[in-house]
Amino acid sequence: MPRPILATVHAAALSHNLARVRTAAPDSRVWAVVKANAYGHGIERVFDALRSADGFALLDLAEAQRLRALDWRGPILLLEGCFDARDLELCSRLGLWHTIHCNEQIDRLAAHKTQLPHRVFLKMNTGMNRLGFTPERFRAAWTRLNALPQVEEISLMQHFPDADGPRGVGAQLQAFNAVTHDLPGERSLSNSAAILRHGEALAGRSDWVRPGIVLYGSAPDVPEHSAAHWDLQPTMTLSSRIIGLQQLQAGDTVGYGSSFTADQPMRIGVVACGYADGYPRHCPTGTPVLVNGVRCRMVGRVSMDMITVDLTPVPRAGMGSEVTLWGVASSGAVLPIDEVARAAGTVGYELMCAVAPRVTIVAD
Ligand SMILES: Cc1ncc(COP(=O)(O)O)c(C=O)c1O
Repeated sequence: MPRPILATVHAAALSHNLARVRTAAPDSRVWAVVKANAYGHGIERVFDALRSADGFALLDLAEAQRLRALDWRGPILLLEGCFDARDLELCSRLGLWHTIHCNEQIDRLAAHKTQLPHRVFLKMNTGMNRLGFTPERFRAAWTRLNALPQVEEISLMQHFPDADGPRGVGAQLQAFNAVTHDLPGERSLSNSAAILRHGEALAGRSDWVRPGIVLYGSAPDVPEHSAAHWDLQPTMTLSSRIIGLQQLQAGDTVGYGSSFTADQPMRIGVVACGYADGYPRHCPTGTPVLVNGVRCRMVGRVSMDMITVDLTPVPRAGMGSEVTLWGVASSGAVLPIDEVARAAGTVGYELMCAVAPRVTIVAD
C-alpha cells in the first residue's frame, strides 16, 4: 500500500473557472496558460476540461509537443519565444506561435530558412522590466519584423506587473496605446488579475486574454480577495490520512525543535505529508488543515514526511481519518490553497507548482 498522500485534479472546477474567464472577458479569445505543467496539475490532466479555450500558452517546447500529442490542433503560444535557432524548426513543424521579446530572436528568425511563415507576438516592456522591447524601441522591432518574409502575422502583447494591486493597469495601458495605436495586429494584454479586476478599463483592448491562476481556482489578488469572492473553484485537492496518534499532557512538546508546547491535554494526529511532498516547511503552528472536513490547526514543525495536527475540534478522528491539506474534503468543506499559502508566506501558484513527484496525482 503506498503512502496515503494524494493530489486530485478537479476537471469540473477547471471548466467552471474557464467559464468565469469567459464571463469576465466576453469579447476576448482565451489563451489558457498551461506553463509549468499546467501550474503543477499536469497538462494531460487539464486538457479535456480546458480544450474549449481558443489556444494554449506555455513556455517549454516539450510541453507544446505534449499538447500536439493530445491532438490539439489549435493555436499554441510560446510565452518566452524561442530559446535558440533550432526551436524555430520545431515552431514551423508544430505550427507554434511565438513571442518575440528581444533583438536576438529577430536575428534568429531573419536567418531561419523556413517554409512556413511564422505568427509572432511582439512583446512590449511596459514597466515589468523582465522581457520585451521598451516603448522607445518597440516600433523599430515591429518594422524589422514586418519586413521579414519569415513572418506572416504580428500580434502585440505586454504583461501587467501590478494588475493585482493599487497601481492597477493605467500606466501600462497608456504606454502600450501611445506606441501601438496605429499598428495593425491583434492585442494580448491581460493576465488573471487584469481580467477579473480591470475588465471595464480593458474592454475591447485585448483580443486575447492570458489567464493562468484563475483557471486553477486561486485568487490572483489575495489577500484583498479570496477565490470564493471571484466565484472560483479549487482545481486541486491535496489529501492524506492520519497515520499515528499521540496523547499530549500540558507541557509536552511536538516534533523537531520542540517548537510547540501543549498548554492542556490534547490529542495529536500525525499526518502522512511533509515538505518532501511539497507541503511548505514554513507553515507555522496554526496553519489550517481539515480533518474529516473539520478545520483544525497544524502544530509544531513540518518535517520531511509528516505534520502534526491538534485534533481537539474532531474528537472522533482516529487512525486513517481523512486529512485535507488544501482543496475539497469528501464532506464538501473547502480549505482554499491561498489560505495555506498565506500561512507559509507565499502564494497559491507556488504551492500547486511544488507538489513533489513522489505524490500521485489523479484526475477525478
Ligand atoms: C506572459 C504571461 N502571461 C500570462 C500569465 C498568466 O498569469 P496569471 O497566472 O497571473 O494569470 C503569465 C504568468 O506568469 C505570463 O508570464
